[in-house]
Amino acid sequence: MVTYTIDDCKQHVSDKDCWLVVHGKVYDVTSFLEEHPGGYDVILTSSGKDATQDFEEIGHSNSAREMLNKYQIGEYAGGDSAPITAKAAASSSSGAGSGISFGLLIPLLLILAAVFFQLYLKK
Ligand code: HEM
Repeated sequence: MVTYTIDDCKQHVSDKDCWLVVHGKVYDVTSFLEEHPGGYDVILTSSGKDATQDFEEIGHSNSAREMLNKYQIGEYAGGDSAPITAKAAASSSSGAGSGISFGLLIPLLLILAAVFFQLYLKK
């Protein structure tokens, strides 16, 4: 597949020719502009750049994500800009309710070992 740079994408920012980047892939969404349920103006504002964050912030549905495939024209030379929202979701889901984290467990075990050692020596 062809790889495009951000400069290539910047050449396509009109309603007659509109490219954008989402998750490391380049999409030609010209024919989708009028169909977009969120309006064509929001897509135009996000065109010619890495729109991953804009796309993720809206919380697009899975069917919206599947629609993307239809418009892919190439890969983005800048790669996937790891989305802030997905990162936040991943860290909050792994952190919430899991009790003591692994990072805390080691110093805690060391303290316990020291206490036992001291008790043993005092005998
Ligand atoms: C080619 C990429 C895109 C596709 C295929 C797409 C598709 C869709 C679809 C199917 C919806 C209806 C709701 C849903 O199913 O999630 C939607 C809503 C929306 N989209 Fe997009 N979208 C794209 C890019 C963008 C971008 C770059 C923005 C920029 C901010 C954007 C902003 C919105 C907004 C504001 C709504 C309305 C949300 C609401 O009414 O709650 N979309 N989009």
